[in-house]
Amino acid sequence: MSTVTDALIAEYFASGTLSGLPRDHWIDGQWRAAASGDSMETFDPGLGRAFAGFASGDEQDVELAVAAADRALRGPWGKATPAERSRTLMRAAEGIRANAERLAVIETLDNGKTLKEAQSDVRSAARLFEYYAGAADKLHGETIPLGPDYVSSTHLEPVGVTAHVIPWNYPFSTAARGLAPALAAGCTAVLKPAEQTPMTALLLAEILHQAGLPAGVCNVITGTGARVGAALVAHPKVRHVTFTGSVQTGQAVMQAAARNITSVTLELGGKSPMVVLGDCDMEKTVEDALWAIYSNAGQICSAGSRLVIERGIHAEFVERLAARANQLTIGHGLKNPEIGAISSLEQLEKISTYVEDARARKIRIAAGGTRLTDAQSNAGWFFAPTLLDNVKPGDRLVQEEIFGPVLSVQVADSVEHALELANGTPFGLAAGIYSRDITKALRLARDIDAGQVYINEYYAGGVETPFGGNKLSGFGREKGLEGLRSYCRVKAVTARI
Ligand code: NAI
Ligand code: MG
Repeated sequence: MSTVTDALIAEYFASGTLSGLPRDHWIDGQWRAAASGDSMETFDPGLGRAFAGFASGDEQDVELAVAAADRALRGPWGKATPAERSRTLMRAAEGIRANAERLAVIETLDNGKTLKEAQSDVRSAARLFEYYAGAADKLHGETIPLGPDYVSSTHLEPVGVTAHVIPWNYPFSTAARGLAPALAAGCTAVLKPAEQTPMTALLLAEILHQAGLPAGVCNVITGTGARVGAALVAHPKVRHVTFTGSVQTGQAVMQAAARNITSVTLELGGKSPMVVLGDCDMEKTVEDALWAIYSNAGQICSAGSRLVIERGIHAEFVERLAARANQLTIGHGLKNPEIGAISSLEQLEKISTYVEDARARKIRIAAGGTRLTDAQSNAGWFFAPTLLDNVKPGDRLVQEEIFGPVLSVQVADSVEHALELANGTPFGLAAGIYSRDITKALRLARDIDAGQVYINEYYAGGVETPFGGNKLSGFGREKGLEGLRSYCRVKAVTARI
């Protein structure tokens, strides 16, 4: 570890907070207190204790931010060349890297994840800005041949003001995932981070400002979904909403956007299967299954939260996986454990309720199953890596998103049965396939209903690979060149000559 990180960690454990944290909204290139004067607290889930306050916004703040974003479309940003936009985004990537240590410590405090995970999130955010910086000056239309008497071409224009409603599980990298392509396309933005994790989106806005992004192009309003989120997504000047979160809130967002015929990208829940065939490499697959579900304490929309496994290897696999799950170290994210905290008390209670219900129904708990605290402080919101064996297809443990370190195991009698089980939920976000037989694996990849399929490595892919869901998991794709589509509108210009 470096001295910067060490000093921040020492400061936090000595004082219970960090100096210089943002407190206000970021509107039109400056910090601005909530119009109402209201504030809220954000918690460190690793200690279950508030460590900072922040502005609790309402529709007055949203109005100011959207107005600033709308004006900025006609200001220097609207007139910037694509190459200038590209250079700004590249400087933003450098700014993120220059501030990476502080960003990662703050993300760990706000969210509860391990410092290692937060550092990886910060790296991926920098990479998103770098990737879309490279795309900003390569967004061009086509010419359409209509015969000798016409000249026809398409032009990609920015859609306008975009709204980004961010969840608490990946606060910094999800903000970057929407913002970088929106800015590359020439849009302006208003971000609403989750009320559990407001800090790093504010810091990102400041970094973008230092990178030369003109005032008003990126604005951040903090506060609750009911007061800030709802006002933002219903605003008639917002032309695209990028939302990541629950199915229920996604439905409300889509309804609000529908009133203004505003387009939406919805990244919603998942119950993604990890399909393990009898001929897999068992040792490697056990390790992959472990991290598919327990990374980020299971709070990942695309987590491999169902293990669909062929009967022949089921017993041995579950035994090995349970042994590994029991070995994992758990604790405050800044103390370098393998598993961090659950991001909110509410989420911890939701996870507990599912597991207690499983226990009451005599479902076999092969590992975990209990709430925990950080061993040193005896505080914080933690849940033991949990393995629920032999769960039936219609069970709520198979059908509903738990969003925690809880894996439901389903036993399959054949590859066809595995496919049926894999597709047997209302979600369609991701799927993993494990087999040494690549033909079998590719056939399953063809037939599985999911926005992304990982073969022999869960979460394989990167900034370059499109990400999004089918069915209740949502629609629209983020990341990759696909991720630019939502932020561009096509104009066809046709001349008779
Ligand atoms: P949520 O979907 O309500 O919150 C996500 C974001 O939406 C937050 O910024 C929130 O303030 C905002 N929001 C809430 N109501 C809104 C509204 N009416 N209009 C506009 N924005 C609004 O999710 P919540 O309550 O934090 O978590 C509940 C469950 O959602 C979790 O247990 C998990 O299953 C799922 N979830 C899924 C995520 C994913 O990555 N797909 C991320 C977070 C939660
Ligand atoms: Mg927090």
